[in-house]
Amino acid sequence: MFPNNLLSVADFSRKQAEDLFDLADHFEKHPPMGLLDRDQIVGTLFYEASTRTRLSFEAAALKMGGGVISVPDANDSSAKKGETVADAVRVMSGYCDLIVVRHPIVGSAAEAARTSLVPIVNAGDGDREHPSQALLDLYTIRKERGEIEGAQVALVGDLRFGRTVHSLALALALWPGIKIYLVAPAILATPTAVLEALQAAGVEYRQTECLEEILPDIDVLYATRIQKERFKGEEEPLYETVKDFLRITGQTLKAMKKDALVMHPLPRVGEIALEVDDDPRAIYFRQAWNGVPLRQGIIATMLNRTS
Ligand code: NCD
Repeated sequence: MFPNNLLSVADFSRKQAEDLFDLADHFEKHPPMGLLDRDQIVGTLFYEASTRTRLSFEAAALKMGGGVISVPDANDSSAKKGETVADAVRVMSGYCDLIVVRHPIVGSAAEAARTSLVPIVNAGDGDREHPSQALLDLYTIRKERGEIEGAQVALVGDLRFGRTVHSLALALALWPGIKIYLVAPAILATPTAVLEALQAAGVEYRQTECLEEILPDIDVLYATRIQKERFKGEEEPLYETVKDFLRITGQTLKAMKKDALVMHPLPRVGEIALEVDDDPRAIYFRQAWNGVPLRQGIIATMLNRTS
């Protein structure tokens, strides 16, 4: 459990998340340069593409005075020779103090944690979870809105393969009074396991294919990319049928509350028109920048170096 490993949203409580957000706020006001020793090294091991997650973890470590070692494209490492992620992590954990791993197979981060000598952060295990992104999303909501409690949140786009929305839905369930709208075409609907977890947590949710009808009610519109790379085998042609499901434009914003937030984990590939960027409600770039203080908080907590 966090701070030993951050593999899933199940690894932290609401209190631990709120403490982390306070720490991230503190780091924004008082940059924590020198909090880590030069020989405290964060390792990043990515078997799938990444820009924000990897770079914000690395920037976070460097801005605290620590070091970074990285395998930015692990598929170009000994994986090519057939090495498993478990072996790669076992070796790498002898070179660094914390490992951030992204891998296409569900459960791979947990497998990595079994052989690692150091804490593991799951930066995405296939289509299942991306817990540090959920923390960053919630931190952003708290910062922009003042509180998470009571928010009406629409998760929109690829709710089947999108690991960010799985983690975010499960994490939102830790706060009271949340209502979640799950907006996706039928073939990209939310997995049953996530729906069951929301039910078990007593979260009010509604599934719909129509974004327009809920726009006036929501506080947060969280848009996601249709995860093209996850359409495999006989499902591959289905991508074409859903790729244009979501298109947020100035027109969409007209129907929304004046103080609503438009978020996206990025990268976007056409879900949000460029004209939306200039609207004060469009906060996805600030959201991405929050990745540095929030991940400084994660690293500091996991390395027990919070002050
Ligand atoms: C997401 C991911 O990798 O799951 N990106 C991110 O970490 N910000 C979203 C995506 O790739 O669509």
